[in-house]
Amino acid sequence: MRVVIAGGHGKIALRLERLLAGRGDEAVGLVRRAEHEPDLRAAGATAVLCDLEKAGADEVAAHLAGADAVVFAAGAGPGSGVARKDTVDRAASALLAEAAERAGVRRFVQVSSMGAGSPPAAGSDEVWAAYITAKTRAEEDLRARDLDWVILRPGALTDDPGTGRVTLAVPPLPFGRVTRDDVAAVIAELLDAPGVTGAVLELVGGEASVADAVRNLSAAGR
Ligand SMILES: NC(=O)c1ccc[n+]([C@@H]2O[C@H](COP(=O)([O-])OP(=O)(O)OC[C@H]3O[C@@H](n4cnc5c(N)ncnc54)[C@H](OP(=O)(O)O)[C@@H]3O)[C@@H](O)[C@H]2O)c1
Repeated sequence: MRVVIAGGHGKIALRLERLLAGRGDEAVGLVRRAEHEPDLRAAGATAVLCDLEKAGADEVAAHLAGADAVVFAAGAGPGSGVARKDTVDRAASALLAEAAERAGVRRFVQVSSMGAGSPPAAGSDEVWAAYITAKTRAEEDLRARDLDWVILRPGALTDDPGTGRVTLAVPPLPFGRVTRDDVAAVIAELLDAPGVTGAVLELVGGEASVADAVRNLSAAGR
């Protein structure tokens, strides 16, 4: 399987690339800085230079040609302000989805966030509100497309070692934390589960193995 990952130098993306390469899949990461290339190579992935706030849909579609799946794992990050929540967390996801349609790559996994899908809580600070709004709009954009999409909403991310144990379910789940290792493992498993499609899923640490968590969704017809 050839998988193109947007935000290819991100913390989740590098973990996912390692997992995919380790099981014999081909991982390609879209990155916007050439100096990130060695880290992708070390993860077993190939880097392609592409700034998703500057590229057009045809350029991105060319990078997706021949792929079996696309993962949106980019994000403006914690140090960013209101404007980049929109240009990255919303617009870059929509651009990638548009490019996937043009390239004929149907499988699309979007990393969203718990909290998306509802208006930001009253009194939220403006950057958090912009982030949740951007994630919600990115979800709405993807849901309207003719793609085999999955929207994955992790809880608060940690860099603790993965546990391999998660709760993965249709919303709402009680808010919780989840390791980036486990998020990457769930994405890898979802890429191997084409029957799970048109699904919005929340993800926190839990009791089920990653394989069982995804198998249970398949059994439920999600
Ligand atoms: N933090 C949390 O608790 C939390 C909770 C739920 C969901 N999430 C979501 O999970 C996702 C991944 O998280 P993470 O921790 O792996 O994030 P991360 O380490 O911050 O990675 C995000 C990546 O996106 C890249 N990016 C930013 N702007 C870009 C652009 N214009 N073109 C191409 N790439 C660009 C960044 O590249 P540069 O290094 O070049 O900037 C970075 O490598 C994000 O969508 C985040 O919103 C986070």
